[in-house]
Amino acid sequence: QVRNVAVIVGSLRKDSMNRKLALNLAKLAPDGLKLHIAEIGSLPLYNQDDDANPPAPSVAFKKQIQEADAVLFVTPEYNRSVPGVLKNAIDVASRPYGKSAWDGKPGAVISLSPGAIGGFGANHHLRQSLVFLNVPVLQQPEAYIGGGGDLFDEGGNIKKPETQEFLRKFMNAFAAWVEANPAKLK
Ligand code: FNR
Repeated sequence: QVRNVAVIVGSLRKDSMNRKLALNLAKLAPDGLKLHIAEIGSLPLYNQDDDANPPAPSVAFKKQIQEADAVLFVTPEYNRSVPGVLKNAIDVASRPYGKSAWDGKPGAVISLSPGAIGGFGANHHLRQSLVFLNVPVLQQPEAYIGGGGDLFDEGGNIKKPETQEFLRKFMNAFAAWVEANPAKLK
């Protein structure tokens, strides 16, 4: 059975290395996982006043999460934490209270940064929210990808075979995690 994975990229930048990574992951994933990017760039800032009548882009994004079998976060680190645009997307799909789209979706986190720490701070701050949102998150392998400035060739493909192999293994582990923790579609 094919599982539909909503990929949330934590950067809006046109040349984002995280977006490139997400596109590579779609190719490295096993046949059982179908990845598609759930875009967050046009989401308005979350405002609790709008809970009864949320803006159309927020409704559309939330629907994509609701309909997904699993969620995969691919994100940079901003100031040792989660980029605001990503936190906003998480908040948008989590409300109104009791109607969160994240509840029970199996998930995984990959952080990618040009630096040596590989976005560890963002990765773990993100996990803090995911615990509250009841997203069972893949524990191992962890994926803190550093040295992002040298990761891709000019065509946007991952240069090093060993990095490709690591990410292939990560996606296989995620596929097994999704099967072991199936989402209840709402
Ligand atoms: C950064 N960057 C960054 N990098 C990092 O490793 N740790 C950090 O805390 C930060 N903080 C930070 C804050 C802000 C506001 C910006 C704009 C950038 C650098 C960041 O990793 C780099 O810009 C990446 O290229 C962002 O990922 P994308 O956009 O290429 O996917």
